[in-house]
Amino acid sequence: MDENRIISSINELPVLPEVVLHINELLKKSASSIDEVADLIEKDSALSSKVLRLANSSYYGLSSQVDSVSRAIIVLGFNNVCNVVTSIGVSAIFKENYKGIGIDLSGLWIHTLGCAVASKVLMSLKNDSESEKAFICGILHDIGKIIIAKTLPSEQKKVFDALKKSNKTISELENEIIGTDHAKVGFAIAKKWRFPDYILDVIRFHHIPHLSKEASDITVSVHLGNAIAKALSLGISTDPKVAIIAPDLWKQIGIDEKKIHSVISAIQNEFDLAMEFWMEI
Ligand SMILES: [Fe+2]
Ligand SMILES: [Fe+2]
Repeated sequence: MDENRIISSINELPVLPEVVLHINELLKKSASSIDEVADLIEKDSALSSKVLRLANSSYYGLSSQVDSVSRAIIVLGFNNVCNVVTSIGVSAIFKENYKGIGIDLSGLWIHTLGCAVASKVLMSLKNDSESEKAFICGILHDIGKIIIAKTLPSEQKKVFDALKKSNKTISELENEIIGTDHAKVGFAIAKKWRFPDYILDVIRFHHIPHLSKEASDITVSVHLGNAIAKALSLGISTDPKVAIIAPDLWKQIGIDEKKIHSVISAIQNEFDLAMEFWMEI
């Protein structure tokens, strides 16, 4: 079954809050104002209080109190706040109670967070202004696994069983058993949710980063971030094998062997801070 048939066969797609879809629309227009986005977020009081809690948490470590969404946008930045809102929306999908689902969603959420934090730290070394983009791509990278878990649970179980006995990658086994893989399914759902092109590209190519055209550095950061999250056992991926990393990928984002140790401890520290906030949300 191909990814578009999977998406159209699903009765109830996991829902992203309407506000996230609206923000995706606003971000595509170049002239959206702070007030426009702040108004949209403030219409949802639970969401705006979560945004303020995060802005005031030790994760950002700001010196002054942030007491309104528009202030959060000024202090943290427009894209940053939009990414926070999206991450809050996506986290809800991982917390829903799906009947008969065969994956550990809370373990996968922690893996997702670990990958997002690692991708952000890695991307900040290459180009700090793009590091929040890497975070949101990390948050969305494995979303296709949830869609497959909802639509084809028995086929997905066959993939996991085969993974234990085989040297093939999860994508190879998904393609053999299901006819598509979680990266392509994730791409298709993110397209339906009207996410920008760079996010679609990263989801699609997070296991084959050399094919990414649109956002190569972010895709490489997420590919490496995914491997680091697994290597540090941050959460539970449905595919615990750590991919062998091609040396040129470390080079692409400017990490040499001597730096790896300090980068890994920066990731672990940032992950511990992120957990404090995100596990309560
Ligand atoms: Fe993946
Ligand atoms: Fe992953």
